[in-house]
Amino acid sequence: MKNKLKIIAVLQSRMGSSRLPNKALLKLNGKPAILRMVDRIKEAKTIKEIWLATGKSKINNKLENCFSNTKIKVFRGDDDDVLSRFVEISKIAKADIIIRLTGDCPLIDPKIIDETVELLINRKADYASNILKRKFPDGLDVEVFTKKTLLETGEFAEAGFSREHVTTYMHGLHKKKYRKGDFKKASLEYTSDFSHLRWTLDEEKDHIFLDKIYKNLPANASWQDIVSYLIKYPLLQLNNNIVAPNEGARDLSALNFDKYKISNSYFERSIKTVPLGSQTFSKSYIQWPKGVAPLFIDRAQGAKVIDIDGNHYVDYIMGLLPIVLGYCDEDVDQAAISQIMKGTIFSMPSSLEAELAEKLVEIIPSAEMVRFGKNGSDVTTASIRLARAYTDRDLVAVSGYHGWHDWYIGSTSRNIGVPKKVQSLTHKFNFNDADSLHSLFKKFPNKFAAVILEPAGLVKTDISALKRIRELCTSNGVVLIFDEIISGFRINIGGAQKEYGVTPDLSCFGKAMANGYPLSAIVGSKKIMTFMEEIFFSSTFGGENVSLAASLATIKKIEDNKVILKTKNYGDILIKELNNICIKEGVDKYIKISNLNWWPKILISNPPIGEELFVSLLRQEFISAGLLIGSTFNLCFSHRNKGVLELTMKGFRTAIKNIKFFVSSKNPSEYLKGDLIQKTFKVR
Ligand SMILES: Cc1ncc(COP(=O)(O)O)c(C=O)c1O
Repeated sequence: MKNKLKIIAVLQSRMGSSRLPNKALLKLNGKPAILRMVDRIKEAKTIKEIWLATGKSKINNKLENCFSNTKIKVFRGDDDDVLSRFVEISKIAKADIIIRLTGDCPLIDPKIIDETVELLINRKADYASNILKRKFPDGLDVEVFTKKTLLETGEFAEAGFSREHVTTYMHGLHKKKYRKGDFKKASLEYTSDFSHLRWTLDEEKDHIFLDKIYKNLPANASWQDIVSYLIKYPLLQLNNNIVAPNEGARDLSALNFDKYKISNSYFERSIKTVPLGSQTFSKSYIQWPKGVAPLFIDRAQGAKVIDIDGNHYVDYIMGLLPIVLGYCDEDVDQAAISQIMKGTIFSMPSSLEAELAEKLVEIIPSAEMVRFGKNGSDVTTASIRLARAYTDRDLVAVSGYHGWHDWYIGSTSRNIGVPKKVQSLTHKFNFNDADSLHSLFKKFPNKFAAVILEPAGLVKTDISALKRIRELCTSNGVVLIFDEIISGFRINIGGAQKEYGVTPDLSCFGKAMANGYPLSAIVGSKKIMTFMEEIFFSSTFGGENVSLAASLATIKKIEDNKVILKTKNYGDILIKELNNICIKEGVDKYIKISNLNWWPKILISNPPIGEELFVSLLRQEFISAGLLIGSTFNLCFSHRNKGVLELTMKGFRTAIKNIKFFVSSKNPSEYLKGDLIQKTFKVR
């Protein structure tokens, strides 16, 4: 377009970002982000000159140096009053029209810049932009205004937020809080809404995302090319969706809100239609100091989650252990998405069933044949039915937790609803205690069909006791079942059976085997597993393809990356550091971390106040310090990500210091701001 107006672009940037220091100079495919952005701005046909507007303080010297070999003019002005920098530049440059761009948008699109300028001119507007009604991805923000608009704004915009964010007085989007001018505005909108996409550079995750974009696409790819690429590789975008909204545009005074307001009000809604407000006891409100705890999660990434109020946490619950790699693992989710595009479930098995079965046979010592379920309870129940059919006996001996079905839950204190006759068929024995099992066998000779136990749990396994249990089962004709729903894919790729060298007849896997996709497996010797053809174990969603594909990808990643070894190493470090904190704060008499590196537990013994109050306060303080911790540290590969250990130690130290203060106060209960947590039944 030809016109006589002098149109300049002013790119504001600074080095002192709190969330991502020096972000302007971070490399995107080998070149600093800010220079990548300039390369794209230069493509805009309407621009006569490009200016960099930065602060006077020394910290920005590096930024200025970065432009020494370019034709970009650099202006250094007031560190906080960014608006004044724009006013000064417009005067020095004798500009008629100014384009405001912010340095956190390395994918800025030159066509959008030109279209916004043309819109301002054609509509004879004072201000034009694509942020008035957001339709473009976040990170393509362009604002254009006339010099007259800028000078009026420079004169009337209030100190603080409006001057830091330059255009508040022009666009009037915060008109309830900040003064606004009376300008003719024009809004550039796209026909479809892409505003949910986040392409700004504010956090480390954004950097990874943008670097990948620059590595995989030409540097001058249009924004639509990038969208097309993301449709093909959706996980790339998912990976940076966890971060909080654009740092620059955040009005910090708005953060003073009740931290759990949405969780608490959503609970009032959900409890009306969902008994317990949750599908799982351990995920429900009774486990948390309700009122000052998040009750609902919105999204998760790696080892971090965000609740529905927008609070961030490092998570050590990991969805109750299915997440072994990290939330939204790119490789696993990509495998799942590829399978979704082929079909989730068919009228006959897919080839994935045999492929995954073969993989399990390869890695798990007891596995010769395999069947799949969805929950752990599906396969523990299948294993008991199979053992009963195989031995033609009824009694079952249990040690640990084995799911919600009648045959097991009837043996616990939550046995309501289970017929007495069923309850009488299940007997408990003690973990690590072969004698207690032997006594049962002697009391009911030739009556036991199965022994089911968790071969590795919160207490260190006595391998000799495990070997004796193996012998006792063999000599009494009893099917030995290992419940490896928790230990599987965590203690060893072949389960606790591989770790300890004791092979059961049948084993059950679930939780971590597909990094969060619903899948479980029963595996065992051919001679028993072929009995599957006689019993009834059959379900519509058995063999659902997405979870099978996810499982194959999960196991591959665990093997390729030495995930189990590295996660255990993290466990060792965590145990050492957190125990050091407990010792330093003098609370180690009553709180310690157990030294099982694959599954550390918080050991609480004789706390100075009632245990329920103590645990409630502990969880309250962990949450307030940004940590989601139950009674164990459920680890995943992503806990090793940069900064996670530091955040954990910082939060843990703060929580422990507060706890120490509370328990030594006159009335510790006054520090509990939410409800007491409720006891759940204990089975381990
Ligand atoms: C050892 C063990 N077995 C079985 C189950 C039951 O699994 P699900 O809840 O997936 O049915 C669990 C669940 O926590 C478990 O920890």
